Amino acid sequence: MDDDSQQAGTPAGTPEGRAPAGPRAGSAPAGPVRHREPPVGAPAGPGRPGGRLTEEQRHVERRVLACFGVTTLAGIGLFFVYFSGGQTQVEGVLWAAALGGLGIGIGLWGNQLLGAREAVEERHPLRSQPGAQEALEEAFEEELGPLIRRRSVLLRALAAAGGAIGLALLLPVLSLGPAPGNTLKVTGWRRGLRAVDENGAPLTLNALPVDGFITVYPEGEVGRADSQALLIRVPKGLLRLPPAALAAVPDGEYVAYSKLCTHAGCPVGLYRAQERSLLCPCHQSQFNVLNGAKPYFGPAARPLPQLPLGLNQQGFLVALGDFDGPVGPAFWDRSKS
Ligand code: FES
Repeated sequence: MDDDSQQAGTPAGTPEGRAPAGPRAGSAPAGPVRHREPPVGAPAGPGRPGGRLTEEQRHVERRVLACFGVTTLAGIGLFFVYFSGGQTQVEGVLWAAALGGLGIGIGLWGNQLLGAREAVEERHPLRSQPGAQEALEEAFEEELGPLIRRRSVLLRALAAAGGAIGLALLLPVLSLGPAPGNTLKVTGWRRGLRAVDENGAPLTLNALPVDGFITVYPEGEVGRADSQALLIRVPKGLLRLPPAALAAVPDGEYVAYSKLCTHAGCPVGLYRAQERSLLCPCHQSQFNVLNGAKPYFGPAARPLPQLPLGLNQQGFLVALGDFDGPVGPAFWDRSKS
């Protein structure tokens, strides 16, 4: 009788074949039952004396540990390379080793060490014999216990590898360098500094012929990129500048503008005397020298900042301060302070 009722899927004492609600001790649930198949390489059934890993499993485990070890060492190596000056090619190789070791290790672990797959078998409810549950637990412990316990070793190795990579990922933050502060807004020009040519020679009102021009630097800072300025001598009376700006043009003729294009920072090195304009060779922006170096053609949208000039007691051209605006390309904050 028992056999017949189980074959028909009707547990004893349950009307119309419905399974009793909820699990009951000593009985298996109705419906699909999932089996976990033994790892690849494990002998079928209880074939591992003492519950130890098979030789093949140990071999796979060693390979997984080696992979995670490579990742850990590569992550640490990235720090040494970075702090010893950095070397792009070496860092690339270390990154490849770190990520490759991690990926291969996880792949081996999942595919070969935990090579289980799920299988679904439709079957009728089964009632366990007394003691069967304990026997199952013992068999489970004997068969899979070592693997589960070894998993903690692998998890620790994985955590070490992941931690090393996580730390290495912080390195690009260190490469950002110090904050620029106010350095984008100030140049080498200070009140009283003489304007000198590229040889360091100071300049007087006789330095240029009318419509002549020259690149000048603050004395002691020859070659400093952000401080280079174009000094142009225009015919007297042609400049159309606000009074404050015109007061910073010695003799009404020597006007100076930043040489850095406000579009993308190229040196604005071409002065066209006929039009009294400055031309940037990079993208052909043109600036009106007589009208405060305002752009009137090309992509530049901001005038070239003016360098306020005066004369010292010896008759040399000197700065009255820094440029009247940030030099070079526009950035997120164009204010001077
Ligand atoms: Fe001068 Fe583009 S950099 S126009």
